[in-house]
Amino acid sequence: MKVIEVKNLKKKFGDKLIVKGLTFDVYEGEIFGFIGRNGAGKSTTVNMLTGISYPSEGNCHILGQENIDLVKKDIGVMPDAANYYYEMTALEHLKFFAGVKKIKPTTIELMNILKAVGLEGNERKKVKAFSFGMKKKLGVAQALIGNPKVLFLDEPTSGLDIQSSLEIQQLILDMAKEKRTIFMTSHNLAEVEKICSRIAIIEDGVINKYGSMEDLQKKYTNEQLVSIELGQIPQNIVEKMTEILSPFVIETHYKEGYLYCRIEDRNLTPKIIFALSKEEIEIFEVKQEKATLEEIFLK
Ligand SMILES: Nc1ncnc2c1ncn2[C@@H]1O[C@H](COP(=O)(O)OP(=O)(O)OP(=O)(O)O)[C@@H](O)[C@H]1O
Ligand SMILES: [Mg+2]
Repeated sequence: MKVIEVKNLKKKFGDKLIVKGLTFDVYEGEIFGFIGRNGAGKSTTVNMLTGISYPSEGNCHILGQENIDLVKKDIGVMPDAANYYYEMTALEHLKFFAGVKKIKPTTIELMNILKAVGLEGNERKKVKAFSFGMKKKLGVAQALIGNPKVLFLDEPTSGLDIQSSLEIQQLILDMAKEKRTIFMTSHNLAEVEKICSRIAIIEDGVINKYGSMEDLQKKYTNEQLVSIELGQIPQNIVEKMTEILSPFVIETHYKEGYLYCRIEDRNLTPKIIFALSKEEIEIFEVKQEKATLEEIFLK
């Protein structure tokens, strides 16, 4: 089921077109990663999807509704720069935002949310006494109020230490398991690669890459790297290796029991294995090294 449907979404500030016609869908239970450089238009897009601002052109439907006000209760938002009320305690802050959403969660429910984001023990501390990371976690907590079906998290882990990032990532994964749909932006490509099921890369207001990690890897890695763990081989064979494999590989490199082959097409892998077997070389493991999201992003 499509939970977020975006068609030709545009945003102008003055006469400057910032978001230049985005079209994509996000499905139920998916963790969708939205990545791009600073100023690419991520937060501007999140703001349109969550009703914080209006599109200049095009549209987005959330849970089938174009009027976001009708589904406000079903969506949770952690904006890029959350507004914090410094004189409020964490608990009061969440109560205030529950009021904005016109819902009335119990204190216990709110305490549980604070616990889930790692703020247990700080419930009655004033926000002005919070560190940057604690405020960030409070932002995630704010998005979780009322147990919404769709979550928009704008850079939920940026600036957090490794331990806290991992906790928030786990929380995001747990939420998706319960069929919640999560749209998140991030600059941490390893994080996106690890937890997101599909990804869109936005560049200068345009989506230039879109799909699952496997789709992107297939599409953007034409050259592939295969690593093969070999048994003991005599020096004369090591020297002959390049010659033996030359019909199939662009380049080979042998180091400490591992043979690395750069090939044009993954269909050549069996041929390499066959050629090595013919020389009676033992093969322990063959691994297709895949492009990382960082490599795809930089392409
Ligand atoms: N209210 C506004 N008025 C004018 N220009 C704006 C406004 N909001 C954003 N912009 C511009 O739109 C562009 C995209 O900004 P946006 O905040 O969407 O980027 P982003 O992808 O979220 O970047 P970051 O990774 O730094 O958070 C930037 O050039 C920014 O200056
Ligand atoms: Mg942003």
